[in-house]
Amino acid sequence: MAITCEDLQAAIDRFPRTELADLPTRLDDCPRFSEALGGKVRVMVKRDDLTGLAFGGNKTRKFDLALGDAVAQGATAIITGAASQSNHARQAAAAAARLGMKCVLVNRHDHRSQMGIQGNQLLDNILGADIRLVVDGVNQNEVKERVVEELTAQGEKPYLIGQRAVVLGTVAYVGCVLEILAQLEAMDAQADFICTASGHGTHAGLALGVKVLGLPIRTQGFSPSKGDEAQRKVRLAEVANEAAELLELDVRLRAEELENTDAYVGENYGIVTEAGLNALHLLARTEGILLDPVYTSKAMSGVIDRIQTGEIPEGSTVVYVHTGGNPALFAYAPELISHGDYRQNLVTS
Ligand SMILES: Cc1ncc(COP(=O)(O)O)c(C=O)c1O
Repeated sequence: MAITCEDLQAAIDRFPRTELADLPTRLDDCPRFSEALGGKVRVMVKRDDLTGLAFGGNKTRKFDLALGDAVAQGATAIITGAASQSNHARQAAAAAARLGMKCVLVNRHDHRSQMGIQGNQLLDNILGADIRLVVDGVNQNEVKERVVEELTAQGEKPYLIGQRAVVLGTVAYVGCVLEILAQLEAMDAQADFICTASGHGTHAGLALGVKVLGLPIRTQGFSPSKGDEAQRKVRLAEVANEAAELLELDVRLRAEELENTDAYVGENYGIVTEAGLNALHLLARTEGILLDPVYTSKAMSGVIDRIQTGEIPEGSTVVYVHTGGNPALFAYAPELISHGDYRQNLVTS
């Protein structure tokens, strides 16, 4: 049976927060963008790119709860890591700075990192993270475990950002559904679809929130990387159900209930697509909202495609959850410049 918004909020409020994120984030109606897509579907953007911490993004909402757990455990340092242009790592570095903790980033010395210090990697440095770049063939997780030992030997209390943080981050995105509902109500609107770029927790949390409240909304996730769809949905259902358990909800998600696709990834993770860059420029030029090249522009290209093919039918309202990632724009300047019709006129007199 569905529970009320108040009861769900109370279940989330049992977890300690850091108050790192500026919440609620805005829900922006996007009339010019909607019009440019034919004017038959209303698109709104939930601005989780504006969560407020060092260029924001979905990780700041997630860390609000995940690092609440770290603080409650008395942690003095956090350890995490991903790709060199990771938005997660950048927001972790900023959160640690704000909380007065050390931050060790065990990132990959990947292609982008070898191109030089830009975008998120530049910000990681500005934010004072201790950056370790793992070369090909070295196991990233083993390096993280070694850093835990190293910090412990130095008398620190390290917190390795792992599965518990992912699950708490998923809980944070259950809370995002409550925010969206309150904002829609104030706008006298109803959503038919909630769409988002999706890795682990964001889509899982949104789908769980929609299900537990018994809402007639379809949640659609757009993966940034290629992979087996069935396996991806099983992983998402697992994390959603771990969050449901933590929240003591009696609802569970089945993998088959989830809508998640990698159809808009293009060649691979981190490689821009024509459709993604078109979506990025269209939203920028109609609404002044920036998408990123790796996650949110590809996801938005999926939303646009579904509107144009009628898979998202006329008369629908779509809430697109913008998960951030904008600093990567600077690291992708060469791709943006070669795709764009950028004109700069030289004035010589
Ligand atoms: C901009 C952006 N959007 C979406 C995601 C996916 O987030 P999640 O893993 O919570 O689904 C990430 C992180 O990996 C991200 O940086």
